[in-house]
Amino acid sequence: MTILEAKEFLHSKMESVNLRRHCYAVSVVMGALAVRLGHKEDREKWEVAGMLHDADYEVTKTDTAKHTHLVLEWLKDHTADAEIHGAILAHGWNYVPGNPQPKNDMEWALYCCDELTGLIVATALVKPDKKLSLVSVESVMNKWSQKSFAAGVDRKQIELCDEKLHIPLRDFIEIALTAMQQIAPDLGL
Ligand SMILES: [Fe+2]
Ligand SMILES: [Fe+2]
Repeated sequence: MTILEAKEFLHSKMESVNLRRHCYAVSVVMGALAVRLGHKEDREKWEVAGMLHDADYEVTKTDTAKHTHLVLEWLKDHTADAEIHGAILAHGWNYVPGNPQPKNDMEWALYCCDELTGLIVATALVKPDKKLSLVSVESVMNKWSQKSFAAGVDRKQIELCDEKLHIPLRDFIEIALTAMQQIAPDLGL
């Protein structure tokens, strides 16, 4: 599955522009993480996993137990790639009952960056022009420390980047921010 096919697939399953933007953000960050972690040859695969990880969210948001499992069912006719399937499943480790713990770079990358994209978007939205270009790593780090800011963002999930991916938090934020800035118009920021 190419990244364009993945985007088309996402659009066929998800109407909400904001939810789609979350998927674009996670996808572009996954591409950057693939390169950083030495998986450049699999970059597109990582991007596809990011694009699709929440594809069923509009349908499953009131039935969390089905989240990720429905995506996999839908994907049967599109890709049998076990790594993509595994990453989608493991991103729900902490909130979909019975989903497996991440076990490799790709799975941990998706797990750790999922929430971070939300913190970066929230940081951009309190800037005067709501522009991602005005966001710095320092401003995200400041918001990180304010636990009441974007309180729903699970900091513990993000900071596993250090232990599981050997990327210090500050670098992890920089990689994600830089990647998201490259597609800022697609993110409406
Ligand atoms: Fe999810
Ligand atoms: Fe997500």
